Amino acid sequence: MKKMTPSLTFLRTIVLVFVLVLTGKLMAQPFLKAHPHINPYQYEIVKEKSFDNGAVTSAHPLASMVGAAMMQDGGNAFDAAIATQLSLAVVFPGAGNIGGGGFMLARKVNGELIGIDYREAAPAKASRDMYLDEPGNPIEGKSTRGASASGIPGSIAGMISTHAYAKLAFAKLIEPAIEFAEFGYVISEREAKGLNADRENFLKFSSAPSAFTKKEVWKAGDTLIQPELAATLKRIQAKGLAGFYEGPTAEYIVKEMQHSGGYVGLEDLKNYKPKFRKPIEFDYRDHHVISFAPPSSGGILIAQMMQMIAPFNVEKMGLNTLASVNLMVESQRRAYADRAEHMGDPDYWKVPTKTLISNSYAQARMSDYKEGVAGSSKLTTAGQAHESEQTTHLSVIDKEGNMVAITTTLNDTYGNKTIVAGAGFLLNNEMDDFSIKPGVPNMYGALGGEANSIQPGKRMLSSMTPTLVTLKGKPYISIGTPGGTTIPNQVYEGLVNIIDHKMTIKQAIDATRFHHQWIPDVVALESDFPEDIETGLKNMGYKTIKRGKFGRMDGILISSDGKRMAAGDKRGDDSVAGY
Ligand code: DON
Repeated sequence: MKKMTPSLTFLRTIVLVFVLVLTGKLMAQPFLKAHPHINPYQYEIVKEKSFDNGAVTSAHPLASMVGAAMMQDGGNAFDAAIATQLSLAVVFPGAGNIGGGGFMLARKVNGELIGIDYREAAPAKASRDMYLDEPGNPIEGKSTRGASASGIPGSIAGMISTHAYAKLAFAKLIEPAIEFAEFGYVISEREAKGLNADRENFLKFSSAPSAFTKKEVWKAGDTLIQPELAATLKRIQAKGLAGFYEGPTAEYIVKEMQHSGGYVGLEDLKNYKPKFRKPIEFDYRDHHVISFAPPSSGGILIAQMMQMIAPFNVEKMGLNTLASVNLMVESQRRAYADRAEHMGDPDYWKVPTKTLISNSYAQARMSDYKEGVAGSSKLTTAGQAHESEQTTHLSVIDKEGNMVAITTTLNDTYGNKTIVAGAGFLLNNEMDDFSIKPGVPNMYGALGGEANSIQPGKRMLSSMTPTLVTLKGKPYISIGTPGGTTIPNQVYEGLVNIIDHKMTIKQAIDATRFHHQWIPDVVALESDFPEDIETGLKNMGYKTIKRGKFGRMDGILISSDGKRMAAGDKRGDDSVAGY
């Protein structure tokens, strides 16, 4: 037998170790091994593409690719949506989440509508004045930072409820997220900046350092590995609901609560249930729009605003002209006044939905509209009707025509900045979406009253507006966006851009936006909003402010020849995938 020289032996050992590591990694990465085109260390953003079969659009290229792969593996739009949201929880930690909540809206190709509300709920220990001091003033930061700001997370329960409509095993849908967490993925410049900006907050508000705070300064191209999150996701993979709401994950959450005055207890977690909500539906110029019901304000707001402008020739007025912005801002003012007064969790407050979304109510609300003049929020109070920047949206349309729209959030970017030690995920600060004191604006400047006051078990009012549209009874659009209170207005403007201004979905999504929310009585404009229109608005009597960028809208539209036209907002790393 030939004697091996030490150097040869050394080389052979190196090769052997390499082979073992590689095969071990491959065995541990069944999803990525089977889908070699998805490379977590090298991927591209695709902003717009049309697909013959199924399409996904979301805030991150890897998450969108995962969704598309699930459809190619025999799954439907629900499989794709679940796998995309779970992947976002790893590759888009600022908003993709398992420690937050959201809304899933779907229309099956047979016309069946499904609305799953997996919004966070106030814990049993919550009370109306929990964020106020003795004299009754809001305690700075208590509803926004640290575990005290968290509602009971709903995302895992929501995804498991959604799974009833899917075709593939849940264990398969969560697998890509596990692999991204365990073996890492390369972060973008935007993510590096976000993680660096909140480094001190993560350290201050969490009981222990985390995967996000291991490095001094993150830069584009670094690999983020999240072993604790991978372990949490594996517990969910093995045990389903109990992998999150009971056992070690629940215990880690409750322990983190104790570090910064949090309220969520083991019983709260165990008792959390998603709720089915009947979607809001209305017609707009031959289109049928389907959106989310309370505890989202979004569906009602877009129903009100679109019906308010239906009698006007918006197409003729043109995109972002003085006439169209004047009209649309006045519809926004009126609808948002109603949000503050009438909307909250329908299980705790009687929301007059039927009246609010009726066409006659919309017309009555516009009866004092005067063309060419700024209205006044002092004079526009809520109508007489009887009977809440980081969130993320994903849309899927599959080969059959099933449409899913999911908007999900931690509320603020990276939520309450608290990473659950041992479990590796961020917690939400959704409690700030409640009205913590009547007349005191929340993080988004939104006011609220009794309808949205805090009660144990109650869900805080949301602006998230996952929306679907059919045209002549056929699936047509799935759309949505993040952006706090600007969300309903963004969706409203996006749909008007498509329906009235005949824009492509990509043009509609990228177009510059404006926002009015009743109070404060100002028109907020994106930084690239045309100067001459801003001057014209001021001359009409409007107060205006320029305000960076609003949201990251993602959508898919089915063209007349059946193509899935998918678009991701220019404003983020949003990316489309399909086949
Ligand atoms: O549910 C809501 O309305 C808010 N928590 C959404 C927050 C949000 O969109 C922040 N995004 N930029």
